[in-house]
Amino acid sequence: MDTMIGLKRTHSCEVLNTAHVEQEVVLCGWVSRRRDHGGLIFLDLRDRSGLVQVVFSQDVDPESFKKAESVRSEYVLAVRGTVKLRDAATINSNMATGEIEVVGTELRILNAAKTPPFYMQDNIEIDETLRLKYRYLDLRRPEMQRNLMLRHRVTKTMRDFFDNNGFMEIETPMLTKSTPEGARDYLVPSRVNPGKFYALPQSPQIFKQLLMVAGMERYFQIVRCFRDEDLRADRQPEFTQLDIEMSFIDQEEILTMMENMTAKLFKEAIGAEVSTPILRISYDDAMNRYGSDKPDVRFGMELIDLSDAVKGSNFKVFETVLASGGQVKAINVKGYAHAPRRELDGLIDYVSIYGAKGMAWIGYTAEGVKSAITKFFSDEIMENIAKTAGVEEGDLLLIVADKPGIVANALGQLRLEMGRRMNLIDPDKLSFVWVIDFPMFEYDEEEKRWSAMHHMFTSPRDEDIQYLESDPGRVKAKAYDMVLNGTEIGGGSIRIYNRQLQEKVFSAIGFTTEEAMSKFGFMLEAFEYGTPPHGGIAFGLDRLIMLMAKRSSIRDVIAFPKTQSATDVMTQAPSEVDIKQLKELSIKTAVVAKVKA
Ligand code: AMO
Repeated sequence: MDTMIGLKRTHSCEVLNTAHVEQEVVLCGWVSRRRDHGGLIFLDLRDRSGLVQVVFSQDVDPESFKKAESVRSEYVLAVRGTVKLRDAATINSNMATGEIEVVGTELRILNAAKTPPFYMQDNIEIDETLRLKYRYLDLRRPEMQRNLMLRHRVTKTMRDFFDNNGFMEIETPMLTKSTPEGARDYLVPSRVNPGKFYALPQSPQIFKQLLMVAGMERYFQIVRCFRDEDLRADRQPEFTQLDIEMSFIDQEEILTMMENMTAKLFKEAIGAEVSTPILRISYDDAMNRYGSDKPDVRFGMELIDLSDAVKGSNFKVFETVLASGGQVKAINVKGYAHAPRRELDGLIDYVSIYGAKGMAWIGYTAEGVKSAITKFFSDEIMENIAKTAGVEEGDLLLIVADKPGIVANALGQLRLEMGRRMNLIDPDKLSFVWVIDFPMFEYDEEEKRWSAMHHMFTSPRDEDIQYLESDPGRVKAKAYDMVLNGTEIGGGSIRIYNRQLQEKVFSAIGFTTEEAMSKFGFMLEAFEYGTPPHGGIAFGLDRLIMLMAKRSSIRDVIAFPKTQSATDVMTQAPSEVDIKQLKELSIKTAVVAKVKA
């Protein structure tokens, strides 16, 4: 092994091309592959830019040839050599630098490496836990390097965009006050205030609003947020938001500003055109037509309301549902009328995951209608159904009858599943949509109370303020989500900036004045010192990059993510701590108590 680099790097591997032929270069990197052809040793040298082939020969330089014999995968090297054109027969068109190679004249082995647990290559089939345990090796793989480079490019573009538009990046605290609603908090005990806890921020919501009171006018921050919630492919316990707040604006101005930013980001980061203005759809429409508040509008197969069409039939299930305020809705799966019974039974199981008690179907085959339920329908009802659903030969109606929430969820998910099965979802398409006019509140059946659907600082629409007390379910909010290909990538709202209105909203969600004062007194007080009208939005940066990079998990675009069970398998966090540490923090855990006893 060499004790010093001794050579000054001149080029990155993958910048080399035919224009460098006959130039002397010095490269540094890792051995991706080594092939020994007797008197010749070929190494694929890899650095952040990519790969280049280096060849050492006994004839050119016996000393470096000898050293090359001892190197193995992932050894770290510095190489001096001359760029040469490859023979036509050995050109590798799968390699960006495949037309050339570097003939090595000097080799320094900067470090050895143990045999890695997996190959540093793209598209390898390895268990994700192993990848996460050796994340530093996983990140050597070109696709992971590309993802992180993309992430860098995106945040750089964001910063430039906001700077050009008069925004200031301001940091907000990580040790904050625990406030109710939203997800569970991550708590941090205070040593100097025994028995008291900070909460890690679920978002900088309160601080960014206070920055508007403070006269900052336009704020943004690329900021880590923490939420202790059930994890999924697009959820991490700590994730990054692009957080934004603006004063003296209305909803239209924010949406336009964000559309401009989105168009710029996609253009600069992945060269994609986003046509603006972005389609807008009300929450009610999204739920009715797609059964989701984050509709994937890359394909049709919209939900069809058959409630009126089937009214008055002899089919008890439908009649009971309709009599109790429910709905009968369907999706029309084109060309699927011949689906085998087994597949249909599978779909019934599928919708049951989403709460549906059953699913009916009508297939319109060339041989006639196939269904277990049409015997309960008169000709007139059959005609109504066919007309409402606009059926043609070959169509298959999949029908769910239930409470509106369950129908939406079950059919919304079924629509996505059928879209996937039929390859209707174009992975190269980018379909943006703003979902607007969200309900202000949602009813929590368990707690028997209303809660804020976005958050409690969200302004109701002016025309709905009158219903805050009498009919909270009717109140719509000045809230909006940006959805891309069925994933919610951002959400925000115009805020309440008047204390009386804020108190009314607190009271609608069952917050007494005392509770509101103890949790948010500082904010209510701030609102009395000249608060400008303001509003904002936050984007999920990880989700945005995931979609840009065409990945299915945000873990692939985060350098050091957590597993589904919120652990870090590399560092073994979370972990037990010394009893001494706990004592200092005045914390007694059930586990410690057991040890003592
Ligand atoms: P919201 O809670 O909608 O709004 O969050 C904004 C965006 O953050 C992303 N996101 C997540 N990404 C990864 N993992 C998670 N656990 C996670 N949770 C949320 C989503 C989401 O759209 N303060 C408000 C914004 C505002 O009103 O200005 C807020 O946090 O992409």
